[in-house]
Amino acid sequence: MTESYAIIANDLTKNFGKVCAVNKLNLKIPYGKTYGLLGPNGAGKTTTVRMFNAIISNTSGNASVGGYDLLTQNEDIRRICGFLPESPGLYSKLSAKEFLEFIGELYYLPKDIISVRINELLELFDLEGRENDLLEGYSRGMKQKVCLCAALIQDPEIIFLDEPTSNLDPATARMVKNLISELAKKAEKTVFICTHLLDSAEELCDIIGIIVNGELKMEGTPKEIIESVGAKDLEEAYLKITGASHIDDLLAWREENSNNNTVNNKRQKKSKKKNKTSR
Ligand SMILES: Nc1ncnc2c1ncn2[C@@H]1O[C@H](COP(=O)(O)OP(=O)(O)OP(=O)(O)O)[C@@H](O)[C@H]1O
Ligand SMILES: [Mg+2]
Repeated sequence: MTESYAIIANDLTKNFGKVCAVNKLNLKIPYGKTYGLLGPNGAGKTTTVRMFNAIISNTSGNASVGGYDLLTQNEDIRRICGFLPESPGLYSKLSAKEFLEFIGELYYLPKDIISVRINELLELFDLEGRENDLLEGYSRGMKQKVCLCAALIQDPEIIFLDEPTSNLDPATARMVKNLISELAKKAEKTVFICTHLLDSAEELCDIIGIIVNGELKMEGTPKEIIESVGAKDLEEAYLKITGASHIDDLLAWREENSNNNTVNNKRQKKSKKKNKTSR
């Protein structure tokens, strides 16, 4: 039944010309769970969340988010979802407060609620006192904080976060991880995270999916994934599953080079000695 899952994908596919970014993705994510999508650069993570948020259209297959059909009810999907994009576009000539008011109005939130939420979020992200500064003068991490505020302002039922802790200082990254955990556990939100941070994924996610070249290679709890490939932790499991465990072979050239250098150095020393004695 569609209603019992927050996110369902049925053979969801996206091609960009000849590039198949996401290939027949099948997912079922229950409400209240935190799902982590992992995978190498270019694997299809961002494309997947952009499709789920109806930012880009899919080539074939279908999905439902919050019980709404991606093809026919994408307005409803946008209404109930919060989305932190990978490379957010901010209106640099607006202040953080103006930008968040604008986002709140896009969700048709009443003005008094917008004002209360903005104050709460600015306090949470330690941006109080800077809210009237133009966004063009914000640091990268401060911009990321404003985007997280924007993703959370309408108290969404389902939250998509594409690399939520990138650019954040360690203390803020920890705060965001705690916040994600609280949103999932206390507020029973469904959270979908794309990340490269395996320790964060292991800490936060109930279910992890590993995508490689647009195809979902494995799915399960962190423990199931680790055990299924006989790894000692999620990092080792990830490297095995994504085929990156041959990284030592790839780096073999360094050893060869250093061996060659040693041989060359010995040769050079020998020929110098020879030159000295023949003089
Ligand atoms: N707008 C686009 N036009 C053409 N190709 C695209 C576009 N967006 C993504 N792609 C391609 O789709 C594939 C998947 O990209 P995507 O951004 O989804 O990867 P990702 O898993 O999010 O990678 P990263 O970890 O680097 O963020 C890549 O081959 C990429 O070049
Ligand atoms: Mg990405």
